[in-house]
Amino acid sequence: MEKVVVSVGGSVLVPAEDDARHLRDLARLLRDLSARVKLFVVTGGGRIARYYIETGRTLGIGERTLDEFGIAVTRLNARLLAGALEGRANREPATSYSQAAKLARRFPIVLMAGTRPGHTTDRVSASLARFVHAARIVNATSVAGVFTADPNKDPDARLLERIRFEDLVRLAGSGHSAAGPSIVFDPVAAQVLVRDRTPLSVVHGRDREALRAAILGEPFHGTLVAD
Ligand code: UTP
Repeated sequence: MEKVVVSVGGSVLVPAEDDARHLRDLARLLRDLSARVKLFVVTGGGRIARYYIETGRTLGIGERTLDEFGIAVTRLNARLLAGALEGRANREPATSYSQAAKLARRFPIVLMAGTRPGHTTDRVSASLARFVHAARIVNATSVAGVFTADPNKDPDARLLERIRFEDLVRLAGSGHSAAGPSIVFDPVAAQVLVRDRTPLSVVHGRDREALRAAILGEPFHGTLVAD
């Protein structure tokens, strides 16, 4: 069975709007697809992580500890999704890539979250994909792909349907310097992808059809990062 890493942003999991219903929908889709591909789902921290990080930063707490706050929230989000998946996935997110690979023998869906300070769950997804030899990574996020500018701020922003790995590295910028959100894709993660040449599909997490098609490797609405 083909292996697919799905990176689900916190903004997709818990945007603070009818979250239980959307989580149930997402869980249903993942359950259905798990009959066709082996799924490794990595959960992000989103707004709640950002809230803790920003509040902590105002208090003068160091960046490493702020990263740990972020990691804790990504793990909490994984537990919430595990609840919606009703036994199809591990209840506690994997803490290492080898543990995730082992869990794949017991569960149709394997959940993983943040691991160590210094990067985001984009990096976890990229490294996990390398470890399990995943066919592709699907990044379910709060925008419909990679744009020429921020689509929430610039009405002229254009969706890029296909870009090369080197373009992703350029768009991601330089290394992880502070806790909190990355703009397109964590630069550390982009470096891992460019080395491994693992295709990355970026889709809007609420566009279930795009998400389904991207996971199955079919044409989808969003951005494909490939050779
Ligand atoms: P996310 O992966 O959600 O990153 O982790 P993000 O880019 O802020 O969120 P999205 O993609 O826009 O939803 C939240 C924070 O947790 C810490 C980082 O500070 C990150 O910004 N983190 C996460 C780590 O330090 N290590 C990890 O492995 C994961």
